[in-house]
Amino acid sequence: MKYLRHCGLVLLALALAVPAASARKTVIPVETEHTALILSVRENGVLETLHYGNRIADPKAFGGFVTGLSEDNGSGPMAYPTTGGRYLGEPALHVRYADGYHNTELVYAAHQVRRNGDVVTTEITLKDPVTLLEVKLFYEAYQKEDVISTHAEIRNGGRQPVELLNYASGSLYLDADQYHLTHFHGGWADEMQMDGEVLTHDTKVIESRRGTQVTQCNNPSFLVSLNADRLQENVGEVVAGALAWSGNFRLSFEMDESNRLNVLAGISPFASAYKLAAGQTFATPDFLYTFSGRGAGQASRNLHAWARNFGVYGGGQINPTLLNSWEGAYFTFTTETLLRMIDDAASMGLEMFVLDDGWFAKDYPRNGDDAGLGDWEVNTAKIPEGIDFVASYAHDKGLKFGIWIEPEMVNPQSNLAHAHPDWVVQSPGRELYQSRNQWVLDLSNPAVQDFVYGIFDKTMQLAPNIDYIKWDCNRTVADFGSKYLGKDQDRFFVEYAQGIYNVMRRLRTKYPDTIVQCCSSGGGRVDYGALKYFNEIWTSDNTDAFTRAYIQYATNLIYPACVMASHVSAVPNHQTGNVTPLKFRFDMACSGRLGMELQPKNLTERERALADRCIRSYKQYRDLVFTGDVYRLASPYEGDYYALMYVSQDQSRAVVYTYCLKYQNRAVGAHVFRLDGLDPARSYRVTELNVDRSCWWGSGRTHAGDFLMNGGFNPVLLKTFDSAVFYLEAE
Ligand code: DGJ
Repeated sequence: MKYLRHCGLVLLALALAVPAASARKTVIPVETEHTALILSVRENGVLETLHYGNRIADPKAFGGFVTGLSEDNGSGPMAYPTTGGRYLGEPALHVRYADGYHNTELVYAAHQVRRNGDVVTTEITLKDPVTLLEVKLFYEAYQKEDVISTHAEIRNGGRQPVELLNYASGSLYLDADQYHLTHFHGGWADEMQMDGEVLTHDTKVIESRRGTQVTQCNNPSFLVSLNADRLQENVGEVVAGALAWSGNFRLSFEMDESNRLNVLAGISPFASAYKLAAGQTFATPDFLYTFSGRGAGQASRNLHAWARNFGVYGGGQINPTLLNSWEGAYFTFTTETLLRMIDDAASMGLEMFVLDDGWFAKDYPRNGDDAGLGDWEVNTAKIPEGIDFVASYAHDKGLKFGIWIEPEMVNPQSNLAHAHPDWVVQSPGRELYQSRNQWVLDLSNPAVQDFVYGIFDKTMQLAPNIDYIKWDCNRTVADFGSKYLGKDQDRFFVEYAQGIYNVMRRLRTKYPDTIVQCCSSGGGRVDYGALKYFNEIWTSDNTDAFTRAYIQYATNLIYPACVMASHVSAVPNHQTGNVTPLKFRFDMACSGRLGMELQPKNLTERERALADRCIRSYKQYRDLVFTGDVYRLASPYEGDYYALMYVSQDQSRAVVYTYCLKYQNRAVGAHVFRLDGLDPARSYRVTELNVDRSCWWGSGRTHAGDFLMNGGFNPVLLKTFDSAVFYLEAE
């Protein structure tokens, strides 16, 4: 489990404080190979942010830099701004004390630095001498990845309980003349749509108050371009960040009167004043960010490298290609249907069969989405032989076997709903709102956590070797409230999200090797909090390859290709009705974790042959998808093409994907894509893959990296939904 590597920290050094020129400030540099966050302690003990950006050779040079006047005048922005004192902006921390007062003024007490391999952790302790509140700020600096992850531990050192009204994970001050914010919103089958704006003074907030993250949510991530009015791929300074939290979140961007931008990321305070008893500590989730001086491309590569090495469960591991039963069979199948799909999957060279929704519940059989959720026993009317029979059949054919669950939810039509009405998220006296005919189970309740853990555990016992679980979650919280929490309703949203993590931690202890997909009616719960436990995401219920260009492009700005499940479905499918050629669908799906989600028996012989070719070649180069560096060549949001490539770390191999999204006037000629990330001094043999009709004159030949990056790589993609994939290998 790579992400846990940094947990066993070795204490290496204490208090690496660098006295600045005047000795008035203690400078605390948090550095990675190419970037630095420079913090300092003023003579009055306030911890300030001096710089975030490129690494600076001598952090001591910062004495007196902030005000530009003298070291005695003014103050820099607080590194963790609190309500009170002279600070009047958006606070990271806002506390209401037992006497009703709101002032918190934190002063530096100590700091220590420790190193564990690639990760250098700086822990800074701040204390309020009046209220005795203590805050520890942790900054984990991932050296090679140029990523910093920060979180706070807030301890009530006083004798009376306090209430945390805002408790952000961190504050990041940026300094530029102009800021362009890119963020992501979505709807069902329309996740991760890029949105952007030049920020003006005051505060822009991106927030979710939906409890469970499903597809209608914003994503807890962003990119800020400095001194620019748009996000650019290869030039300009870009800060990209994400909050590792699967519950309600709040990202705020406040541009103050001196034009500085304070980025705060944390749990949303919405209905969540958090009571902290005397002596109690609250730990916030991680806020991670990276700085790139070379546009969004480098920012993504930094985040992706961090994700593969530390942030994603099983990151960098190659997950199997698969056939999922959902769009091919929906709720209507028998054992025979499943066995024939397994036969087809095996004969096409796929590596796993996943049985989706519809296999369970007897008294209220799951024959549609209106019944059965909560009753996790096999529906023997559909599969009389049991799951083991189907799983063994798949295993005998050389396939892995996976199965779907949606353990956080319950249909009113179920034995569970009748047995445990108190387990449902609800507010007394209100009619319970149904969405997709279901209610949400109250995961703030430890008994429900046990039950949900038990569903996973029980499902894993249905056959000796279940290799993969698809964990679904198909609605947001409404009528929020918990019978279990009684008068402590303010804890609901936080403890719901912590409840999921409690369950995931337990099941990862027992099932470290099971591949678990995070699905939330598609790509809803896509965040680095969930990805600590999940191997991959169901990127979207929208399997239409055209829409996927937009969803996958934007998802991949923040999250690596290794987590993006991407399936080939039939056309027109139930989402968009677009009719794209099978080759286009394969070429799109092959740029993530490839799968299929259709009834293979409906493919023609010619289509089957193409499918076989695409699957075979994908398996030969897919390590590039899972571990390579992404270079985006054309954005679907900006033009008529989408193109990207993945390059091996040693630059010896690459795969290039090119897609035409709109008919091109033939007089214009073929579009030229400039490849990227290659070694200009090496030569690469270029081979077109997934060939239907060869579309580049240079395929099968060797070309200089320099030519491919600066010259004329111009596959003929003229018709809407033309596409081409190329494999490059250095000679
Ligand atoms: C929503 C998921 O996103 C789909 O892939 C499928 O698993 C359905 N739920 C099943 O109900």
